[in-house]
Amino acid sequence: MIWARRCGVSFALALLLGSFVTGCKSVPPPTPLAELNAQQMRGHAVYETHCATCHYDRKNAALHGPALIGMYKKPYLPSGAPANDERVTATIVHGRNLMPAQGDRLDSQDLDDLLAYLHTL
Ligand code: HEC
Repeated sequence: MIWARRCGVSFALALLLGSFVTGCKSVPPPTPLAELNAQQMRGHAVYETHCATCHYDRKNAALHGPALIGMYKKPYLPSGAPANDERVTATIVHGRNLMPAQGDRLDSQDLDDLLAYLHTL
């Protein structure tokens, strides 16, 4: 299996061109939206409402915050903190530097669904 390299060239485009941008770490592509299960779909809706204004999920480019694509497939978050549910939950609930806390807008079900979605990226 060949995995796309995420350096600004989309997976589909990379496949079409039959060549890959070199020099960045290769991680498996996100699960296609059409293949998400019910919980992951709910999490995608939470992402669209609360995160999409500041983060791209399927594009390796910064918006107001870093891209979330592949975030659980790499060992560390952009800050260098370990990429695990504990740290990601803390970031979402309490915020981080310029990222505002989202804790009072999400209930625990939203949060569970959102994490399930983030794991598909
Ligand atoms: C108003 C803009 C904004 C919103 C809304 C927002 N973020 Fe962020 N996010 C940021 C910024 C800016 C950073 C960079 C913070 C830093 O490390 O300085 C960031 C960082 C992060 C990080 C990386 C943390 C690290 O340790 O490197 C994650 C993961 C993250 N956000 C997830 C989310 C999720 C999930 C949501 C939706 C619930 C969300 N963000 C909503 C702006 C935002």
